[in-house]
Amino acid sequence: MSNLDLFESGCTDDNSGSSDESPITAMRRLIDLLNRWEHAYYVLDAPEVPDSEYDKVYLALQQLELRHPDLIQIDSPTQRVGGKPADGFEQVRHRVPMLSLGNAFEDSDVIAFDRRVKELADLPTDTTIAYAVDPKFDGLAISIHYKNGVFEQAITRGDGTVGEDVSANVKTIRSLPLKLRGTAIPEHLEIRGEIFMTKKDFLLMNQRQAELGLKVFANPRNAAAGTIRQLDPKVAASRPLRFYCYGAALEREQLRELKTQSSMMRWLSEMGLPVSELSQTALGAQGLLTFYRTVGDRRGALPFEIDGVVYKVDSFDLQDQLGYVAKAPRFAVAHKFPPDEVLSRLLNIEVQVGRTGSITPVAKLEPVKVGGVVVSSATLHNLDEIQRKDLRVGDQVLVRRAGDVIPEVLPFSGNQRNPGSSAFVMPTHCPICNSLVRKEEGEAAFRCTGGLVCKAQLTQSIIHFAHRRAIDIEGLGSKLVEVLVDKEWVKTPADLFRLEFDALVQLERMGEKSARNLLDSIEKAKQTTFGRFLFGLGIRHVGEATARDLAAHFADVDRLMNATEEELLEVNDVGPVVAESIRQFFDEPANQQVVRDLVSLGVSWPTEEIKLTDESHPFFGKTFVLTGTLSQYSRDEAGALILARGGKVTGSVSKKTDYLLAGEAAGSKLDKAAALGVTVLDENTFQGML
Ligand code: IVH
Repeated sequence: MSNLDLFESGCTDDNSGSSDESPITAMRRLIDLLNRWEHAYYVLDAPEVPDSEYDKVYLALQQLELRHPDLIQIDSPTQRVGGKPADGFEQVRHRVPMLSLGNAFEDSDVIAFDRRVKELADLPTDTTIAYAVDPKFDGLAISIHYKNGVFEQAITRGDGTVGEDVSANVKTIRSLPLKLRGTAIPEHLEIRGEIFMTKKDFLLMNQRQAELGLKVFANPRNAAAGTIRQLDPKVAASRPLRFYCYGAALEREQLRELKTQSSMMRWLSEMGLPVSELSQTALGAQGLLTFYRTVGDRRGALPFEIDGVVYKVDSFDLQDQLGYVAKAPRFAVAHKFPPDEVLSRLLNIEVQVGRTGSITPVAKLEPVKVGGVVVSSATLHNLDEIQRKDLRVGDQVLVRRAGDVIPEVLPFSGNQRNPGSSAFVMPTHCPICNSLVRKEEGEAAFRCTGGLVCKAQLTQSIIHFAHRRAIDIEGLGSKLVEVLVDKEWVKTPADLFRLEFDALVQLERMGEKSARNLLDSIEKAKQTTFGRFLFGLGIRHVGEATARDLAAHFADVDRLMNATEEELLEVNDVGPVVAESIRQFFDEPANQQVVRDLVSLGVSWPTEEIKLTDESHPFFGKTFVLTGTLSQYSRDEAGALILARGGKVTGSVSKKTDYLLAGEAAGSKLDKAAALGVTVLDENTFQGML
């Protein structure tokens, strides 16, 4: 019989009279069916039926229960949400205290833990201990009691001895069975586990909360904890809580029978309790460390947040021998991942002056280790951002660093603000050159108006000019540039080509050899390309790609310097803002002088590379996407060839793409091109067209 048949016969029970099934039998059948589907969906992560199917059967059960309220079964899914909002939660003493875990942070802590287990149990040092290992779920601990296999009570950890009865809320968690499966169900069972919210559910829920103008939560753990503390179980039912079981407080008898933590976990899972598929066993300290790395690598991709892994001696006998210290077992330890959000203090807000004069506020922080690196300083981006986060010097702040991204400074809800603190104000004058600071309309940034008079702007401009992607002077680091600018040996990029050996060797930490090497790289950098040269000038809004486009279009520096805004607008991707910025740059006599100086000091580029674009070339005006590995060019080189012929290169395939140039091992872009009917060129065809 299919599910649907089951359902239909369930619906027709005492309406039609054609079924000989009693209401209680029908009820039981629908409940078992719904519970099986919930288990498949929430615990096994393998839905058996579409949601609509579930809803239909649920409705049928509800109707049946409405007609026979005296027959309502305790494990009916309709009973997950029931009752009225409570006045408060009842305090309940734990039958077995809920302990905490000792922490390990470094590999050496784990090796020491494994060694101590053997020492305390009087085992030879070369024994290999078996461990049960789990992720450390980042939610809230809960103790759940089942009586004769039926959900009875759920108690929060509280202080470990006394917690709160949150049964009504916990019952709404659909991955938690209201009734255990199987035949050998103990009369009383107390399980332990973690309530949490998946990252995706959390985001969706917060979105919905925000739309309704309700409270939004800082992270999934807060959302789960806040939900469990809700007095109205209907609210809890509307929020997507999950549960994983990681242990049980067993009777002596059961411990003797099951023997190990891992077989206990299998037993719990067979009764329908959700156990993470990441839980397993590991051998010895090396096995633990391998598990730590494997889970750590998967951390970001997991649907829920974890803050480490937990190791437990597998054998109950051995656990018993090891015993407890203070409030934690000696047979288990939590190995924490480096935190990615740490509390710190905002010591000061300084401002930094960038290449274009932009004034960026920077947080000076009490140094903290976050995501594995020490952070003592982090950008605050702009004034709006500081005001939005309401940050003040002296505040306690959270420093977050997820993955490799730059650290972020966030307000801390528990901050107790210094009564004397005041809001940050932008300086009215540049801290470096004392020129006026101005905010341009429509821009978030404040800027120093000092231009190259400002040593900060000059230093950044020179660093940019010398950058690997610009004129490329190897060995000219930012510290050295600062010194050269400070000594006023370098006032424009052209001055770099006027540096002399005798002067350089006098600098601190500059030997004869490094002075010689630096002059060699400066000499070498004179041979460049027009595109790199233009990019190096640091014209606002002219990035690498635009610089290359301009180079290909104008071919000649005088033609570019004399181009009108209209002429500039003819270049790919050059809009009015960019055109105006270029025009302004070259209108400035000092900038014209720098360009002329650079050329007369010997900076040059091959001219054949930038021959004028020929409108009859098959690449002219065409948009390319490059993918896969080419055999004769790097992708950049192929891109430059296309640009030089009046074509354009973009990153992703769309309807506007004319050609996809596909090398070896081309991936999804090839499929997309095929789907959109974009012409695909192989390398040979491309060469032919060139
Ligand atoms: S075992 C004696 N296993 O971590 C305590 N705890 O620091 C035994 N936690 O309050 C706990 N994942 O809420 C254990 N796989 C896991 C866990 C886990 C998260 C939490 C739990 C406990 C805290 C202990």
